[in-house]
Amino acid sequence: EVEELSLLSPERFLNIAHRGASGYAPEHTIPAYELGEELAGDYIEIDLQMTKDGELIAMHDSDLSHTTDVSGDVQELNLNEIRVLDVGSWFNEIYPDLANPVFSGAKVPTLDEIFTYFGKESNYYIETKTPNKYPGMEEALLQLLRKHDLLNTSLREGIVIIQSFHKESLLKIQQLDSSIPLIQLFNFKGKAKLSDAQIAEIKEYAVGIGPNFKSLTPKFVKKIRDADLLIHPYTVNEGKDMERLVEWGVTGMFTNYPDVLEKVLRER
Ligand code: G3P
Ligand code: CA
Repeated sequence: EVEELSLLSPERFLNIAHRGASGYAPEHTIPAYELGEELAGDYIEIDLQMTKDGELIAMHDSDLSHTTDVSGDVQELNLNEIRVLDVGSWFNEIYPDLANPVFSGAKVPTLDEIFTYFGKESNYYIETKTPNKYPGMEEALLQLLRKHDLLNTSLREGIVIIQSFHKESLLKIQQLDSSIPLIQLFNFKGKAKLSDAQIAEIKEYAVGIGPNFKSLTPKFVKKIRDADLLIHPYTVNEGKDMERLVEWGVTGMFTNYPDVLEKVLRER
């Protein structure tokens, strides 16, 4: 029997379905996450926001107008007020060619529901969004992970990865549970750059980095790999870009089109 490589092995290329297969279905909905898995995504990528009453929900923007027909901020509304919103119809309107009646009326999933629905069969790549705005976000996240037994160390390594642009948020998680693999996100202006000292600092708490892909150079990718860090660029949607980045040695990537990435990896 061939043993599968750990999800965290640098030899195991990770196909991360960004907001689900969000190129084909409305982002952060159950249908988008399901499609991500059907199209060969290894991970469901989830952006977290927190409601006024402290519930964690999957949504990229704190501004509701991005995917609903109301304006306002997630933290100003309780979950029951957010539950009634439709986060799928905008997709059908903007992309008539991809429209599907099951998308219209899609509800905002809570993290609790996502874990209940997908269980331990799926892998979760979870981002704490604007954690400064949401005191208690990390504690709430860990509580849910425990409730669903997803921190059980007898499960496969890497079943849950937590990512953030905010180092403090990752450090808080490390403090609460040092066993969870963490990814430090970066949005580099211009070319990606990290000094040896910065890399050493990242290695204290994270297993890798998630940079904006356009900032990357082959030299930078090599430097990160030589430091034994994983590197998962975002958000790569064109086959040509995927091919180049794979060539440079990235260890996975975020994409709205996991099927396109799967094809690139298969044909190499
Ligand atoms: O989490 C990686 C990537 O998704 C970061 O950008 O804005 O799509 O969450 P964003
Ligand atoms: Ca994200």
